[in-house]
Amino acid sequence: MNLGEKLRGHHAFITGASGGLGAHFARLCASSGAAVTIGARRRQKLEALVAELWSLGARHARAVDLDVADEGSIEAAWAAAHEDEAPPVDVLVNNAGISGAGPAIDTPAGEFDRVMGTNLRGVWLMSGVAARAWRERGTGGVIVNIASILGHRIVGGTAPYVISKAGVVQMTEVMALEWARFGIRVNALCPGYVATDINAEYFGGEAGQQMIRRIPMRRIGQPQDLDGAFLLLATDASAWMTGASLVVDGGHLVSPL
Ligand SMILES: NC(=O)c1ccc[n+]([C@@H]2O[C@H](COP(=O)([O-])OP(=O)(O)OC[C@H]3O[C@@H](n4cnc5c(N)ncnc54)[C@H](OP(=O)(O)O)[C@@H]3O)[C@@H](O)[C@H]2O)c1
Repeated sequence: MNLGEKLRGHHAFITGASGGLGAHFARLCASSGAAVTIGARRRQKLEALVAELWSLGARHARAVDLDVADEGSIEAAWAAAHEDEAPPVDVLVNNAGISGAGPAIDTPAGEFDRVMGTNLRGVWLMSGVAARAWRERGTGGVIVNIASILGHRIVGGTAPYVISKAGVVQMTEVMALEWARFGIRVNALCPGYVATDINAEYFGGEAGQQMIRRIPMRRIGQPQDLDGAFLLLATDASAWMTGASLVVDGGHLVSPL
């Protein structure tokens, strides 16, 4: 079965697609013949990617200004994704996310709110806008939340991040339960450490290198290591899956305690 082929004719909206995994997922959707809307705050990066998406074979490609921490921005972005001849969005990829480092005891409330506002509340707001539109249209839809293995186990020194990702896993389950009746499937992809800007500094240092030695497969992932799981969750290859958290991590989560 060619999973990418299953995306042809669909319209994927990917948040946080100005770099890293989001840009990678956008390229994957485009080369599968899907229409793609990409949103983030850095508009220039999005515009450059849009040109590439067309050349990869996207049915349609557009960039929208999006700050997932801002409800008004989310509503405007969703409307902008439906302004032209592309089919309506039927796949939402909640990928936008930020990290935050520091000991829990000294984490100021503002920092906690900043991480939660993007990683948890942003997923909540985006999903709500999509789900209400799909309920109204009666079409159903698919949501893929990019959570993390840190939604299942923890590391120290990044409390708001791990709490937010655990919240995304729970949110995935709640929304799956409540929205199945509308034909909406909600699943989470939980990557282990994948090389992107979010962790480049960490894996450049000794602590990061030590971490790699604790991964059973002894390497961090590359974005393409997520392709199979992403395409499974984004297409009807997973037609009977909802509320699942799919871990793709080189075995990191089963490393010994
Ligand atoms: N890389 C990993 O090892 C790893 C592992 C597990 C999970 N994840 C998750 O995967 C997702 C992508 O991470 P990444 O590694 O690709 O990180 P990244 O390279 O830092 O990219 C993060 C993306 O999120 C966007 N973003 C941040 N805040 C935003 C906001 N308020 N509104 C809209 N977009 C926003 C950024 O774009 P702008 O700055 O232009 O807005 C950027 O495009 C995150 O949710 C992350 O937690 C990553």
